[in-house]
Amino acid sequence: MQTELRKVKKLNIVIVENFDQMSEHAANMLRNQILTKPDSVLGLATGSTPLGVYRLLAEYHEMGLDFSEITTFNLDEYIGLAADHPASYRYYMEENLFSKVNAAKKNIHIPNGMAPDLEKECERYELSIQNAGGIDIQILGIGTNGHIGFNEPGTEFGTTTHVVDLTESTINDNARFFESRDDVPTQAISMGIKSIMKARNIVLMANGESKADAIVQAVKGPVTTDLPASVLQLHPSVTFVVDKAAASKL
Ligand code: PGA
Repeated sequence: MQTELRKVKKLNIVIVENFDQMSEHAANMLRNQILTKPDSVLGLATGSTPLGVYRLLAEYHEMGLDFSEITTFNLDEYIGLAADHPASYRYYMEENLFSKVNAAKKNIHIPNGMAPDLEKECERYELSIQNAGGIDIQILGIGTNGHIGFNEPGTEFGTTTHVVDLTESTINDNARFFESRDDVPTQAISMGIKSIMKARNIVLMANGESKADAIVQAVKGPVTTDLPASVLQLHPSVTFVVDKAAASKL
C-alpha cells in the first residue's frame, strides 16, 4: 500500500551569516523556553554544532538563567565508552554544559552505552522521556548523510530509542574526536525518529558547506528514510537555523 506523506506546515527556516549568529538564535529559543516554563524538558545534542549554544547558555546562567527545575534528555551515546572517556557524550555534556549550569544531576538523562542489557536500556530511556512528560524543545544537528541523532539513512520512521550500527560516513565524520579512526565505536544508542518527532518543538542547526547537501534534501527533497532529517517536514513545529554556507543550495 502506498502511503501518502503530506507536509503539515511550511518549515520555519532562519538563515544567518555564521556560526555565532546560528548559536545565538538557537540559544535564545532555549532561553525563552526556560523563561516561559522553568521546568521545561530539553532535548540536547552533541557534536560541533551546538557548542556555541552551550557556551551561551552558560553565560545566560551566569546572568541569572535558572536551570534548577530543568530536565534534559540527550539524543544519543556511543556503546562501549565509559562516562569518563573524553569522547563519550556524557563527558562532552559535563564539560560543555552541565558543569557550568545548575541543572540537578537527577534530572540529566543520557543513554548508558555501558549498560549490560542494551535493549533494556533503550526501553528504560524511552520510558523516562514519557515519564518526564515528553520533550518541550529538541535541538538537533544534522549529519552530512542527513542523520538526526544517530538515526542513519534507512532508519524506519517508527523507531523509538534503539541500538544503531554507525555508517562508514558517520564513523569518518566523527574520527576527529578520537585518537585514531579505529577507536571510533561502531555502535550507539540513539533516540529513534519517532522519539524525536514526539518533541513539541524542534530546532535543527547546521553550519558550513559540508551540510549544504543534507540541508537542501531535508528541506526540499522527498520525505524519505534515505534522508532521515526529511521527516521533519511532517513535524508541526520545527525551525531550521542555518548559516549561509549550509543554506547555499536552498
Ligand atoms: P556535528 O555533527 O555537529 O559534529 O557536525 C552533527 C551530527 O552528526 O548530527
